Amino acid sequence: MTPSDVKATLSFSDGSASMDLPIYKGTVGPDVIDIRKLYAQTGKFTYDPGFLSTASCNSNITYIDGDKGELLYRGYPIEQLATNCDFLETCHLLLYGELPDLAKKTAFVKLVTNHTMVNEQMQFFLRGFRRDAHPMAVMTGLVGGLSAFYHDSTDINNPQHREIAAIRLIAKMPTLVAMSYKYSIGQPFIYPRNDLGYTANFMHMMFATPCETYETNDVLVRAMDRIFILHADHEQNASTSTVRLCGSSGTNPFAAIAAGVACLWGPAHGGANEAALNMLEDIQRNGGIEKIGEFIKNVKDKNSTVKLMGFGHRVYKNYDPRAKLMRETCYEVLNALGLQDDPLFKLAMALEKIALEDEYFVSRKLYPNVDFYSGIVQRAIGIPVSLFTAIFALARTVGWIAQLNEMIGDPEYKIGRPRQLFVGSTSRDVLPIGQR
Ligand code: CMC
Repeated sequence: MTPSDVKATLSFSDGSASMDLPIYKGTVGPDVIDIRKLYAQTGKFTYDPGFLSTASCNSNITYIDGDKGELLYRGYPIEQLATNCDFLETCHLLLYGELPDLAKKTAFVKLVTNHTMVNEQMQFFLRGFRRDAHPMAVMTGLVGGLSAFYHDSTDINNPQHREIAAIRLIAKMPTLVAMSYKYSIGQPFIYPRNDLGYTANFMHMMFATPCETYETNDVLVRAMDRIFILHADHEQNASTSTVRLCGSSGTNPFAAIAAGVACLWGPAHGGANEAALNMLEDIQRNGGIEKIGEFIKNVKDKNSTVKLMGFGHRVYKNYDPRAKLMRETCYEVLNALGLQDDPLFKLAMALEKIALEDEYFVSRKLYPNVDFYSGIVQRAIGIPVSLFTAIFALARTVGWIAQLNEMIGDPEYKIGRPRQLFVGSTSRDVLPIGQR
């Protein structure tokens, strides 16, 4: 953090002493006002529910310019990574700060590949779940459960433990997601195949059976790999902040990532891809393109709770760059599968066009986000809707763990402990039960 020459001065209208607050500059993006000494010097907290104006950390991993619609991982634009790199190269970048050269890539791929299997005992743990449980419920349990199986990598303060936990999590997430899918449809688990690439192996574990191999299709593998890249990190979003806060207590990495999985599940966050596809299917069932006007009217009605899922973002006030790439992938996948006339894709494009021209969406700067098209791609690949968020979790694991490790490695880090403005009852006495 570079100190700025400018200082902020906080003054009070009641005449109490004003206070100078230091300002720091990042390499790009808004400066921050350091309020750490505010309470000690003024006895006052700041109030910022939802963290609308609060930077909770400094980070050198991911940068978003929401007004421009720009997303950089370690300085590289998402468009270039999605076009020129694969997911494991992106993981290397997020974890270690640089894209690998060929030798480093080979070593990294080998390292991750060596950890794709999960402890055999985990399948018995999985069998305790109902078959119709939501995959995110199962994943929250399984990821948390990893800490019970890998005791040799649970010390968050040990850099070697953190490194091996990171590799294990990246390597085992596809296996766990595929296992939870197989369990839900009553098919045997399929072991990983280490002669396949990371993403092709995931699709093999999802779609092969003991009696039939799965023929991987390059376009579909590339599409799935791109979904992983686009979801790999997104700076201090709700689930990443959850992972950081959870990890700040010194808990083990698997427990912290399980907290991230739980947070991601919500429909305002990772659950939006599932919600967006369900919304498109609903509109389709109720009359399709003809009924878009009615649907949009409902979204705009102040008294309704209906939202246009896959639209809007806390940070992007412009087109989400991931949504553009996802729409491009959508074309490729539907073409490769001969589904150019897919009604849901047509519906999504019509909905997007109408929303982008509508004053309600324009004035609020609501644009499609990554989830608007990702569901259509996954559905075309054969992924069931209920698994979409688990796939998001698989991809985001590297971002969570990179952010967690960055925090633990920072000598300035402290346990996260927000304050509050208390508005409840002041101290009062308990009355005997007969007098209450
Ligand atoms: N449909 C209709 N209206 C919306 C939408 C939407 N999708 N999103 C925001 N608005 C309205 C909102 O009602 C508010 O209107 P008003 O000013 O009249 O009260 C205004 O736009 C500002 O919205 P907000 O709720 O204050 O914005 P936020 O930053 O708190 O919420 C959001 C961001 C992503 C939770 C929200 O846009 C949303 O719920 N979108 C749909 C869910 C979704 O697609 N989430 C995925 C996010 S991207 C993937 C990820 O990172 O997880």
